[in-house]
Amino acid sequence: MVSKIRQSLLASLSAHQDTYVSGQQLAEESGCSRTAIWKHIEELRGDGFSIESKRKKGYRLIGRSDLLTENDILLGLETKTLGRNVIYFDSVDSTQKIAHKLAQEQAPEGTLVIAEEQVTGRGRMARPWHSPKGTGIWMSLLLKPTLPPQKAPQFTLIAAVAVVQAIHDVSGIQVEIKWPNDLLVHGRKLTGILTELQADSEQIHSLIIGIGMNINQQKEDFPDELSSIATSLAIEKGELISRAAIVQRVMYHLERYYDIYMNKGFAPIKLLWESYAISIGKNITARTLNGTLTGVASGITDDGVLLLEDSEGTIHPIYSADIELNLNDREKK
Ligand code: BTN
Repeated sequence: MVSKIRQSLLASLSAHQDTYVSGQQLAEESGCSRTAIWKHIEELRGDGFSIESKRKKGYRLIGRSDLLTENDILLGLETKTLGRNVIYFDSVDSTQKIAHKLAQEQAPEGTLVIAEEQVTGRGRMARPWHSPKGTGIWMSLLLKPTLPPQKAPQFTLIAAVAVVQAIHDVSGIQVEIKWPNDLLVHGRKLTGILTELQADSEQIHSLIIGIGMNINQQKEDFPDELSSIATSLAIEKGELISRAAIVQRVMYHLERYYDIYMNKGFAPIKLLWESYAISIGKNITARTLNGTLTGVASGITDDGVLLLEDSEGTIHPIYSADIELNLNDREKK
């Protein structure tokens, strides 16, 4: 747990980024001795914050690390609950796996498990998820909504809308959603979302939203099998992006939409989701476990199920599938 003193120190230093803040002032603001301040500054440096010190002048924050430690996330986080309990790893098998374990141990709602690297990150349909060190965001968020388990898929769509807005806030880049959980830029995958749950037949006990985001990878960082289908924000924007800022905005929007959803239902989220979705109204091929269907994606239901209308006019509900857009085919008028 980050101490209140370190939070207060970082807040004062960030508020005076171009000037020095004296040890005395920091000590008064944080309510501790100057020696304690010095110790905390050393710890912050150890965590990757670049803090200059000058005799008789004090301390100046030069830069923040691009790490995703508890400090990096809490400083500037604008939420009440989501992301307030950060469990950070340098390297981990899968944040999803840790979040499941924490859920069983009664970790609080809003707990965020985040790692610089995942060794066995996993995606939908048990596919591996490439999670190299220090360049992406690999995180799993624990929620405990009082809802029946049938509602769980809606959370993938809620998270997708929050991520689209967070990316736009921080980078100005507009991301598109491909049902159910792919976020794409120029047709290449930037983010994937994996929603899992612990539940009985009546009620969700814990919902774990795993989000994997390609942020600062360069083209050559992707393995061959991903290089033509994946992208990163840095590739799209041509500059490095603060990962902590993205995490903070995802938490902020997700908390807002979670609140709207619990109070007003799925309808407002559905409207937003459809406005960002590329597959709706398009001719698609859906590969499901029971076979392949082709037709027009006519919309999603209130439960987040995709509706596919085939050439005979029959509507098929699609619960789980890989979707391919048939770009040159007919579009629904
Ligand atoms: C997909 O598109 O298939 C979903 C990918 C989800 C990846 C994230 S990264 C953080 C969390 N931990 C995992 O092992 N997977 C999810």
